[in-house]
Order: sequence, then structure tokens, then C-alpha cells
Amino acid sequence: MRAVDFIARKRDGYEHSREELEWFVKALVAGEISDYQTSAWLMAVVLRGMTASETADLTRAMAFSGMRLDLTGVAPFVADKHSTGGVGDKTTLVVAPLVAAAGVPVGKMSGRGLGFSGGTIDKLESISGFRTSVSTGDFIRQVKEVGIVVAAQTPDLAPADGILYKLRDVTATVDSLPLIASSIMSKKIAAGATGVILDVKAGKGAFMKTVEDARSLAEAMRDIGGEVGLQVRAVISDMDQPLGWAVGNALEVNEAVQTLKGEGPEDLLEVALALGGHLLHMAAKTESPERGAETLLDLLHAGVGLRKFREFIVAQGGDPAFVDRPELLPQAPVQHEVAASGPGYLAGINAEAIGRASVTIGAGRATKEAAIDYSVGFVLHAKVGDRVSQGQLLATIHAANDVSAREIESAIRAAFQLSNSPQTRPPTIREIVT
Ligand code: URA
Repeated sequence: MRAVDFIARKRDGYEHSREELEWFVKALVAGEISDYQTSAWLMAVVLRGMTASETADLTRAMAFSGMRLDLTGVAPFVADKHSTGGVGDKTTLVVAPLVAAAGVPVGKMSGRGLGFSGGTIDKLESISGFRTSVSTGDFIRQVKEVGIVVAAQTPDLAPADGILYKLRDVTATVDSLPLIASSIMSKKIAAGATGVILDVKAGKGAFMKTVEDARSLAEAMRDIGGEVGLQVRAVISDMDQPLGWAVGNALEVNEAVQTLKGEGPEDLLEVALALGGHLLHMAAKTESPERGAETLLDLLHAGVGLRKFREFIVAQGGDPAFVDRPELLPQAPVQHEVAASGPGYLAGINAEAIGRASVTIGAGRATKEAAIDYSVGFVLHAKVGDRVSQGQLLATIHAANDVSAREIESAIRAAFQLSNSPQTRPPTIREIVT
């Protein structure tokens, strides 16, 4: 088949056969399809969609585009976790060490920033010395010996997703149920875990804007996992405002550390405990997810999660000194305050606008090759439902220079919507899909 005919079939709304999708993924990984043709096909998928069976076929072809890890000899249950993408979402850095500290090993392949959402790999790379590129042998060894590994996509594991992911980030082809489902589930299947908890975000700062769409995505991923014997559950969590206070790579790493010290934001802790609680329950460590969450909170208070976090950083070559001295993380030279222009109740914080602003000031990429600035981002000082007075601090912009801080100020101010009437705080957890 010729790439141009493959693209035209999707452009014209046809359903790809399994053979076509397998041909495409094989040719993609062999380097036989150019970036411009791949991008054209991605856009056709965004516009035309895919049926459930196309999505499952694409996922399988992507999952088997490299090797599939066999972790069955490593532990009775190996856990994995993945988010569909949000703003301020540093949950992995809290959940993974806590779950590992509870005796359930975590082996996870993570992504970089995607569109307006941040990525765990970019966050981890803000830590001096930290290696996100982990060989297959080291991945298995670390799951066994340390109980936690978080690695970037490798050429061995789901390489097709590595190629598509980079292109989607910079071609406005992220927001598509079949592309998100296949991207996530191909990595989860290839990485060899026993069970996966998915954090499916719903709201303005998510790729799925409504709970209904988030539920459809969660169910599609659960069904794809089920077909290959992978246990999958999903927590649908709120992304109508950024999660926690910090948005930006190093700022988020610091917030995750503060959370493991018991000093983090409530919403982040709530999501982390819910996700981790399900993993402990799936691993048969506790009789319910709620009991699992309580166990993790006890471990957090005992400092065991933080100890596991340090072990994880050291195992991947990072210098853990920043855990006690956050100033060792990359620091932006300029900190610029944004204050409320009037009094009111905070009715919304447009998370997508905050995410896009973070990419603009350098925390994300505009092109595939672009370097990112780990130090920049925002720290928010209010949440939806809060009453604010005129002049009260809403956010601090961490920027590379004054010009960039001033340029982004109006976008940040506009993301905060004030109302005259009292506002209720939206629930952080919306639904569970089992
Ligand atoms: N995370 C992924 O790995 N892929 C997506 O498409 C979205 C979030």
C-alpha cells in the first residue's frame, strides 16, 4: 500500500482494516513514512475518528511494534498508572513511590509534554543527573530491586507511539479519543504490568472536556486492556482547574516532594490516594480501594513514601539533594506577581489557558526539536470557590526574563474568572470506571 492511499482512505471516512493498520505501523517504525504523511493521517483521524475495532487494532499493532516486557517473574503484581493529560498533573511522582512503599512494585513508561498538558518525563528531567532513558534490562532490574521505575519511551517498547506522540504534540492532533487510547494502551501493554490505573481527566484543562467523553475514553481503554489480559480501572478526575498549585516542570517536582512530606495541596493528595488505593486493591493488598488509600496516607505520614522517592531518584542517577533543598532545582530568574483586579468569588481557573501559557513561556515545546526551560511556570495562590479581595495575589509567574513575564501576565489574569456570588468547590473525583 502507498502512504498517500492510506491517508486518503481515512480522509474519505473509510474504516481501516487490521491489515492496513498493521502495514502502517510497521512502515512507520521502519522509517518508511515521512513525518508530513504521518501528520496528514493523524489529522484525518482527528477529523474522521475511528471505530472501536479500528482503535483496538491500531493499539495492538502499536503495542507489538517493539518488544513486550514479561514481568511475571518479577512480582505477583506489577502496577502501572497513566494520566490522559492535564495541567499541573504531577500525580505520578506522588502515587508511584507510595504504592511502591506499600510493597507493590511500579513499572511505568511515561511521556513528555503533549499539547498544553505537561509530561512526567519532562518533569523528571528537571532533576540534576536523572536518567529517563532506561534499557529494558535495567527497567526489569529496577522494578525488582527498587520497586519503582519511571522511564521514557524507548526504541524497544511501543516505538510507534514514540513517533506519533512527538508529531501529535506539535501538529494539533492530540485531542482524539482513538489516538489517546491507542497511545496510552500500547505503552501499558508493552510495559508488561499486571494492572493499570488510569487517571482520565475531564474538564477545560483536559483533552476530554466532559465527564461523558472521559467515560467513553476510560471504557475504550479498559476494553482494549481486557482483551490482552491487562486489568484496567479508571478514576475520572476534575481538570476544570489546574491540579495543585504549581504548573511547570521543576515547580511541579517540588510540589510533589512537598506532598510526600505531608505539606502538599489537598486536591493533588486526594487524586493520588484514590489512584493508589485502587492499585493496592487490585494487587489484593487491601480489601477495598478506600482501605488502600488509608494505608498510603499512613505511609506518607510515616515518611516511607518520601524515602522510596529518594531511592527512585538515586536509582535513575539523580541527585536527591533537592528533596531537602528545593533551591537546587532549576530556578527561574524572574518572579512576577499577578493580583486580583477586583474582589469576588473564584468561579473558574481556565486550566487549558494556563497550560497554553506555560508552553508559551517555555515549559513545553512548539516544535519537535525545541528545548524546554525546566525552571519556568506558575504557582497559583487561589482555587475555585475561594473568596478573593482586590489586590490579593492570584498567581506568581516564574519566567526567564521580565519581558516574557509581562507578556504572559494578561493571559494568566484572564484565566481567573471572578463572580459576585459565592461559588461551590467542584468535586476532585468525578467517577470510577471498573
Ligand atoms: N498520554 C499519552 O501517553 N498519550 C496521549 O495521547 C495522552 C496522554
